[in-house]
Amino acid sequence: MATHPVNASPVTHELRGKVLLVTVDNPPVNALGADVRRGLAAAIGHAEANDAVQAVLIVGAGRNFIAGADIREFGQPPQPPALPDVCNRIEACHKPVIAAIHGAALGGGLEVALAAHYRLAVAGAKLGLPEVQLGLLPGAGGTQRAPRLIGAETALSLMLSGRHASAQEAHKLGLVDRLGASDDILAEGLAYAQELLAGHAPVRRTRDAQALADRTQAQAAIDAARAETAKKSRGLFSPLKIVDCVQAALDLPFDEGLRFERKQFLECLESPQRAGLVHAFFAEREVQKAPETKSAKPRAIETVGVIGGGTMGAGIAVAVLDAGLPVTMIERDDASLARGRAHVEKVYDGLIAKGRMKPEAKAQILARLSGSTSYDALANADLVIEAVFEDMAVKQAVFAELDRVCKPGAVLATNTSYLDIDAIAASIERPQDVVGLHFFSPANIMKLLEIVVPKQVSADVVATAFELAKKLRKVPVRAGVCDGFIGNRILAVFRTAADHLMEDGASPYQIDKAVRDFGFPMGPYQVVDLAGGDIGWATRKRRAATRDPKARYVQIADRICERGWFGQKTGRGFYLYPEGARTGTPDPEVEAIIEAERERAGITPRAFTDEAIMRRYMAAMINEGANVVHEKIALRPLDVDVTLLYGYGFPRYRGGPMKYADTVGLANVLADIREYAKEDPLFWRPSPLLVELVERGENFASLNHSA
Ligand code: 3HC
Ligand code: NAI
Repeated sequence: MATHPVNASPVTHELRGKVLLVTVDNPPVNALGADVRRGLAAAIGHAEANDAVQAVLIVGAGRNFIAGADIREFGQPPQPPALPDVCNRIEACHKPVIAAIHGAALGGGLEVALAAHYRLAVAGAKLGLPEVQLGLLPGAGGTQRAPRLIGAETALSLMLSGRHASAQEAHKLGLVDRLGASDDILAEGLAYAQELLAGHAPVRRTRDAQALADRTQAQAAIDAARAETAKKSRGLFSPLKIVDCVQAALDLPFDEGLRFERKQFLECLESPQRAGLVHAFFAEREVQKAPETKSAKPRAIETVGVIGGGTMGAGIAVAVLDAGLPVTMIERDDASLARGRAHVEKVYDGLIAKGRMKPEAKAQILARLSGSTSYDALANADLVIEAVFEDMAVKQAVFAELDRVCKPGAVLATNTSYLDIDAIAASIERPQDVVGLHFFSPANIMKLLEIVVPKQVSADVVATAFELAKKLRKVPVRAGVCDGFIGNRILAVFRTAADHLMEDGASPYQIDKAVRDFGFPMGPYQVVDLAGGDIGWATRKRRAATRDPKARYVQIADRICERGWFGQKTGRGFYLYPEGARTGTPDPEVEAIIEAERERAGITPRAFTDEAIMRRYMAAMINEGANVVHEKIALRPLDVDVTLLYGYGFPRYRGGPMKYADTVGLANVLADIREYAKEDPLFWRPSPLLVELVERGENFASLNHSA
């Protein structure tokens, strides 16, 4: 057996009998960086030039085949050879090339496999073209080869969803030719290669495959996908281009189709949406790395207690049950406990009604749920999550009970939205065990989990919280203690900016529309109506005494709440919801209330363009985001981005508010804030961090180092 390491290249090749075994070894996921591309091209060159080689087998080292292009190279100057050229080189090889796939064969990784002549996959393989999720399209022949191999409809559905297909599904779709019997990728690949050689299997090129032969059928699939995409992918740049590329696959000769695809790919690569989505991809991985996850080992969590069976307690219980852990729910009395249990059951009944769960599965899950009105039932809990009323005295009473009954080392968490967790921790004998776990509603669905780190907490408790997030499949963001932590604190500020806009002349309907057009799923007043106006009203009343009397306070929402109009649940709020409608219609009476409030405040209404609305809304969000980073409530700007993306519906393709600020230019944002400050200097105080970055000519990205 001869080994030919190519200059410490991440691609090595060695002759195994008549088969040239080409191994891509580029940890962590064998991404197709420049060295890998060079190595693959060189390996094919070697195979062509060497008579002893009769077939080529490409495999990946480690846990994956190839996870795609190296995402870190995007936006950098391109380095030859380009991936499409490497793929063409593989396909043009006149000796059979076999791709043996285990783990991820995604994006460019699958495109390499599509350029090979035969494909094998073993159990656990994930095949897909997820470029759309990064604002891209398959740019190394995927849009031309996939439809030719598996038909326009299937190729479009893979490329437009970006989903991963299992080995079995890929085999059924015709994406791979054979399923390996074992998970020994090398043995399976070599055996397949030997078998192909023994059977004199010809070189068989995907470019010549015939799945598009039925033009009428293909055209119908393309038309349907175009109509669906125009409707569904609102504001997104790359999905329609994917459809265009498949149209090109149908209409143009292969090489022209490739050129068309390349042009579209480069346009996507240049787009701010690509930059935003790639930022989101890395940011959601970076947030997992908190200082405590490096310095401390998590405590074991095998049993969980949840206190309160209301909106949040029940949702948290479902999230924990879904992760396979047992839950003990504590409530005030039997009736509340029964209600809490019913809330939990309702979630599973909903799944059963939709055909997404079998009744047996519900029974199995609920067997892990127990309930009690006595705290003693928590004596063995490794973790307790408190979700009772948002009231310091009530919470401290609960924590005193926990201090009494819980075993030493149990992690004691609160789901408070705003309260001072340092004060909760300080009220018991074991403040080192107290942490904030701020879930979002509905807690079993929303991905965000703010992990709030009080002063006295020990590092292993924080590490445990991150470990829990992983188990619950949540996206954790580390936050410091302050009023509202990262998300709700920023929310309060941009909501206030919206209220100012409303009183100054924009209607809530225009504001909501502008915010939706920017890419949020809902506008701020639709959100109020959905969540219930009474919740914010109660908070405002609670804070009235401590509010800065000099600060501008818009009373419109109070006037609406005073009439008992709390939103969807009362049939009207900022909008009208006749007969239980889910979408509201504008309410002339609300407009009259707003008009009256403007008069009372002595404001002559003025017109705002949608763009002017969004500039203020975003400036408020960005400025408070900068404050949150400045005060070290968030570790980095990217933590603010992930919070807004996963908890508040910020459009992912814009990367988050801080990334968006970098795109617009921090100097422009600061100039806007200074302009607005002329009217209201108290509200529009530029964040010291923003000022500092502008002075230094830097952006938020410069602060996004690893924690
Ligand atoms: N390029 C560069 N780095 C990558 C990468 C890629 N394509 N894919 C993953 N990584 C990095 C991650 O950032 C992470 O780095 P870190 O340890 O420093 O944080 C590390 O690899 C491990 O990644 P995960 O934590 O995500 O590991 P998992 O085991 O959970 O998941 C995976 C592995 C399924 C491969 C997942 O990483 C993934 O989905 N990657 C992206 C795949 C993708 O989108 N490919 C298409 C790229 S675009 C393309 O190919 C264009 C072409 O058409 C021309
Ligand atoms: P809720 O009113 O729906 O539920 C509270 C539950 O706690 C009730 O079932 C009540 O019976 C129970 N409870 C009260 N005192 C108790 C005690 N001493 N012992 C045991 N149970 C007791 O309230 P919700 O909305 O679930 O909020 C709970 C907590 O979660 C609050 O701190 C809130 O700020 C926070 N939160 C709420 C969010 C939301 O969107 N509703 C989002 C994130 C956090």
